[in-house]
Amino acid sequence: MVWPAGEAAFVTGAASGIGLGIARALVGAGAKVALADVDEARLSEVAEELRTAGGTVTAVPLDVSDEAGWTAAADTAEAALGPISILCNVAGVNGGGTIEDTPFKVWRWVQGVNIDGMFLGVHTFVPRMKARGTRAHILNTASISGLVAMPHVGAYTASKFASVGFTKVLRQELGDTDIDVSLLVPGTVATRINYTAGEAEARLLDREPNREVIEANHAVLAKGADPDAVGQQVVEALQERAPVIVTHREWGELHRRECAEIGAAFDAFDGRHGPDTTARMLLDGATPVSA
Ligand code: NAI
Repeated sequence: MVWPAGEAAFVTGAASGIGLGIARALVGAGAKVALADVDEARLSEVAEELRTAGGTVTAVPLDVSDEAGWTAAADTAEAALGPISILCNVAGVNGGGTIEDTPFKVWRWVQGVNIDGMFLGVHTFVPRMKARGTRAHILNTASISGLVAMPHVGAYTASKFASVGFTKVLRQELGDTDIDVSLLVPGTVATRINYTAGEAEARLLDREPNREVIEANHAVLAKGADPDAVGQQVVEALQERAPVIVTHREWGELHRRECAEIGAAFDAFDGRHGPDTTARMLLDGATPVSA
């Protein structure tokens, strides 16, 4: 059998978009999949679709930002499918506007889902994966907004920059285990995120969704990549143990431009404080911070 056939995966945000695309591709590759999402109605539909297609799946209602829900969700998934060896943290939301106009409640909600959810997934499954000691894989979904700063999505951008750093640290910390870590950096993908997140944000603030803004943002996203094709790409990349997965080439140039400003500041600096011993340790291949 070719990996991941026969493995059990746990995919968050599996009721829609990229998470669903990954779940479909995993089922297509012969894996069993626990479909986790906060949207229980869509989750049931998706579970039914994948079962009809011959997949072995189980639906696990979960708010990824809810610490208390994770252990029970993992237990339910493992009771139904066996030990989880693939964790795909995909659930995510966009919300708020300019930083000045973003209510703190929305800020916290975006960080809660996008970065706390990722932390909680890792905290729940890494000890289980380590205890078994067999091949395992964690996929964390960031965004181009985790590499390139764009106005009007400050809360989202902050959470996605955080998820990039979190994932890079995790990969280093698990470097001597059989747990691979991949960072997914999607560009524009034609999903429902503007509807899902726009409606959830309106519920959070107890107001009507701003349909005009949602439709305008959705029109841009609708020109993006097919989420099922991205799901297929992701599963191939997991098979190859790719550390970073990108979906569109143009963002490479924008990422390099983003880095150039900080690089230029280092190059231009007069070095007045002398050498930095922590940086020296890293350049020499040592780890400056011990656990
Ligand atoms: P989507 O809205 O189609 O799917 C996201 C799923 O996450 C939904 O089913 C939603 O119910 C679920 N979800 C939301 N909050 C949740 C919570 N608290 N707990 C559990 N599930 C929750 O969106 P899409 O586009 O598929 O997003 C997936 C990931 O991809 C997100 O992390 C997003 O930030 C990221 N991404 C998407 C891009 C795009 O162009 N669509 C671009 C870059 C990154």
